[in-house]
Amino acid sequence: MAQQHRKGTFNVPVSHYISHTVSGQEVLITTGNSTVRIIVYDHSVIRFRISKPEQEFSGFSYAVIEQPKPVEFKISDEGENLTLTTSLLKVIMNKEKVRISIYDVEGNFINGDDPSFGTSWLGNEVTTYKKLIADERFIGLGEKTGNLDRRGKAYVNWNSDNFAYGVDDDPIYLSTPFYIGIHGNQNYGIFFDNSHKTTFSFGCSNDRFSYFQAEDGEMNYYFIWKPNVAGIIERYTWLTGRLEMPPLWSLGFQQCRYSYYPYPEVLNAARTFREKDIPADVLYLDIHYMDAYKVFTWHPTRFPDPDALMKELKKMGFNVVVILDPGIKTEAGYHAYDDGKEKGHFVKYPDGEEYNGQVWPGWSAFPDFTKEEVREWWGKQMNILTDNGIEGFWNDMNEPAAWGQHLPDLIEFDYEGEGGTHKKSHNVYGMQMARSTYEGGKKLLDGKRTFVLTRAGYSGVQRYAAVWTGDNVSSDEHMLAGTRLVNSMGLTGIPFAGNDVGGFAGEATPELFARWIALGAFSPFFRSHSMVNSRDSEPWSFGEEVEDISRNYIKLRYRLMPYLYSVFYEASQNGMAVSRSLAIDYTYDNNIYSNPYQNQYLFGPSILVIPVESTRELHKAYFPEGAWYNLYNDKIQQGNREEILSALKEQQPLYVKAGSILLMQESSNHLLNVKELERMEIHIYPGAETSFVYYEDDGETYQYKGGASLVRTFELKSNSLRISPKSGSYTSHFKTWRVFIHGLKPDAKITVNSASVEENTMNYRFIEPVSDFDPYHKPPTDPLEIKDLIYVDVKWNDAEAVIHW
Ligand code: GLC
Repeated sequence: MAQQHRKGTFNVPVSHYISHTVSGQEVLITTGNSTVRIIVYDHSVIRFRISKPEQEFSGFSYAVIEQPKPVEFKISDEGENLTLTTSLLKVIMNKEKVRISIYDVEGNFINGDDPSFGTSWLGNEVTTYKKLIADERFIGLGEKTGNLDRRGKAYVNWNSDNFAYGVDDDPIYLSTPFYIGIHGNQNYGIFFDNSHKTTFSFGCSNDRFSYFQAEDGEMNYYFIWKPNVAGIIERYTWLTGRLEMPPLWSLGFQQCRYSYYPYPEVLNAARTFREKDIPADVLYLDIHYMDAYKVFTWHPTRFPDPDALMKELKKMGFNVVVILDPGIKTEAGYHAYDDGKEKGHFVKYPDGEEYNGQVWPGWSAFPDFTKEEVREWWGKQMNILTDNGIEGFWNDMNEPAAWGQHLPDLIEFDYEGEGGTHKKSHNVYGMQMARSTYEGGKKLLDGKRTFVLTRAGYSGVQRYAAVWTGDNVSSDEHMLAGTRLVNSMGLTGIPFAGNDVGGFAGEATPELFARWIALGAFSPFFRSHSMVNSRDSEPWSFGEEVEDISRNYIKLRYRLMPYLYSVFYEASQNGMAVSRSLAIDYTYDNNIYSNPYQNQYLFGPSILVIPVESTRELHKAYFPEGAWYNLYNDKIQQGNREEILSALKEQQPLYVKAGSILLMQESSNHLLNVKELERMEIHIYPGAETSFVYYEDDGETYQYKGGASLVRTFELKSNSLRISPKSGSYTSHFKTWRVFIHGLKPDAKITVNSASVEENTMNYRFIEPVSDFDPYHKPPTDPLEIKDLIYVDVKWNDAEAVIHW
């Protein structure tokens, strides 16, 4: 059909280069129907902005915190192509069609536009179509359900309150429009920074292209190339920021419930943890702590003296995290509503009337978190909580959610002065609420670290909050889907994430809870939570056996704290995931993407975690290249192999990569205020060269920013470990080291700084056998012991130390 007879809205691709100019890091290209800006951020990060000539976009971003670096690049105008070259990349734009292809400097193709469509408009909708490569895989996109490899699927970014979501439902709560493509031996990242509803298709319902599309706004994407996935995540988080060191206590076990009230219930939970010798650091107050669900209030009879309660709990080593929902009850006489209304801080319709929607408190108004003044106002309201000793905050319902789940599109937000409808502001609202809470908490706590947990967010949310995966369900498939969600967030710059252990909706069986809590101990954010009017779900609520299993794995996590805290430090430095999808280190190993193995991951660099459904005691696992020590008995498992494992519920399969260092401490029942620790255990697993950066600080203030930290690099060679001298002014909590060398022959000679030392052996356990409480069923817990493990004791020394064997 000839173009002129067509009626309605059709696809219009960008085309016909006219001219270009270069200024600083930017190449501005005028075409027949668009403006194309190519901005060189550094050698490996290039931003593409494409808009219609009449469209003016500010370029303001809530996600990106970096500016282009003044790196050198070259532009050449060669007949049909305009070529931009950095030291790592060659971007070739075909002038006639304005199609972009990207190559590495050796001329290998990395990524390119569909030859006909490239970037196109369909009405206001803007899309970039990318050639689909035969073997291309797609990973990332953050909190998205489905498989690790997203090929063949499409996803929508629109933060959604999705109670008891199905394991394939989309969208759920959080939007991070960033993915990593993999083909041949190439990998690249694309971050489409547009806060409108966006759609990503990875060859879904077609065999021609992948695409990313926004309902409105500009085509605005960052192309990232690095030789490996870790490098791509590092660059993405260079752009969008990284988490700050969280308070140490927030890495402990967190117990939640919808809801613990009145206050004796909270004390009861706290005391039970201590009596039962199950470590825990946090208890949560869900919506019932408030008066009529009014944020920034305490319920007068359920919590008559919050100050005294917090003091009592802190004495026991507990912090309390309270829920803060954005909806403010529209009740005259309620201070937060009256004050917010008077100051005009709530979101409005275009005619100036306040927008109201229904949530827990009934009809509610919504603070406009896209305005600095409102964020500050919110932060100040939090003093009623910090005055009572609260240091942690839980932001929920911040998609934002209102009953019906369809906020009218026309409502308006400030969007940092540039204005935006709900369509443009929806996906950033949750992140700005988390920011407001984080900044408020930080100010009020006056030098102490705060902890914020959020349900909704956008790219960059990691700067302010940890994320949990919302209202999951007590089922095996949810437990496994939950690990993929957390790992996928790790690929998208959000290292501090977790899911509700045991499942929020529904009721876990004892077997499921046992599996889930062991797995949760190897999740960056570790919290158990369950729905109102459901069975008790504390670690002791499922019988003695599950209680023992829970204690074992929670204690193991606490013992691994020096390792885990250092892994968080790495995340704060380079954005690296804490729960690491195997796609990070084994990107080109096809097995890791297959259905049975896609849930496996590395916790930090060294611990291979193999999730197992509660209905199985045998499990097929895959071991990537290298060799792996069974954590419990040191038996070596060769890599590049599938194996059937015996996986009893009391033994979560865990393997340590040959060529690893695990740093451990004695178990304590909480992390809060534990300052002195006798001994750090250094577990060496020889087999490959590696290095590990150990990090310590006070775990509670920002003094580390002024140098009050301790950093040491552990370098493992085939038969030696070198510990670099300490840098930083912090004095270690530890007085001695006990160095365990796994897999060592009994006749080995160990020296420390060239002097021989006394060698000892012991039988060592990472977990205790579960009690023999049932005379009929003796769980076959052995072999759980590492026999005759060789160790030496060394006094902590701030200078260089070399241990040789
Ligand atoms: C939402 C949250 C859930 C919380 C409940 C009550 O469903 O996702 O975690 O318990 O609201 O506040």
